[in-house]
Amino acid sequence: MQEFPILPERASTIAGEVDALFWGLVAFSVIAASAVIGIVLYLAIKYRAGSAADRSGRVEGNFKMELAWIATAVVLGIAVFTAGAKVYFDTVYAPADALHVYVVGKQWMWKIEHPEGPREINELHVPVGRPVRLTITSQDVIHSFYVPEFRIKMDAVPGRYTQAWFQATQPGVYHLFCAEYCGTEHSRMIGRVVAMTPADYEAWLESQKAGAVVASAATAGGTMASRGEQLFVGLGCASCHVQGPQARGPSLVGLMGTEVTLADGSTVVADEAYIRESILNPAAKIVAGWTPVMPSFQGLVSEEDIFQLIQYIQSLSRPGGASQ
Ligand code: CUA
Repeated sequence: MQEFPILPERASTIAGEVDALFWGLVAFSVIAASAVIGIVLYLAIKYRAGSAADRSGRVEGNFKMELAWIATAVVLGIAVFTAGAKVYFDTVYAPADALHVYVVGKQWMWKIEHPEGPREINELHVPVGRPVRLTITSQDVIHSFYVPEFRIKMDAVPGRYTQAWFQATQPGVYHLFCAEYCGTEHSRMIGRVVAMTPADYEAWLESQKAGAVVASAATAGGTMASRGEQLFVGLGCASCHVQGPQARGPSLVGLMGTEVTLADGSTVVADEAYIRESILNPAAKIVAGWTPVMPSFQGLVSEEDIFQLIQYIQSLSRPGGASQ
């Protein structure tokens, strides 16, 4: 079986759970299909034309048997759903201490950005032994971020954020595929995930930071938050979102993750999706006490820009983060 593996190598903490579900469903299907085929064959032979089998005592219906069949199907259906839902939730909601990575799919490449600064195309470097959370979106059509060895696959959908996470268990280089047909070069929208020991990963981060500064000192250097801060000032956000009497928009300090009360009295949690919507469609959710004077930044910022702005706003929430 070594030369002909049925499933890819298991290289993440979740892989065993996914495989158990897969093999469980295969076993269930084989047992159910064998039983149906077996009974059909048995009855077809027993009651074949001209056989001497007893054909008297015709059954017109059996309420108890129908009830038993429905109950069995319901229980089995709910059991399969529960097992699948558990794996789904386990793969979507990352532990709180996860490293954060931002992913933008576009025709036809994966653009990946680390909060510490490094940007990659069709490559993702991660440390083993630490959960890594992905926030994924698309700049054009639907793509799907698929790493078979990690057993994770999550669609990249234009206009919204999706989440996935994994924890690599062993250093190595793994396939990254686009698993959603997205145009002419869909089959070439491939890359690799490089899982490294924590020490190698730290060294890689440092080398990337140094390289970025050399490559383009003006814009490429610094963290995502510092690039976001440059955008925040450059786009004029800073002239309204200030603290004090001259403010024309709510302060963003400490905003991330808090509950915001809107003009209509409802509340919303200030998460990544909320920040994105407020940049592209500010009138959608007006914060209580403010007038809708902010213009839309649709077309002025890319998905990557928005990720950087989110990181900047998040940095305003942390002690020692950039001041406003
Ligand atoms: Cu992107 Cu297929």
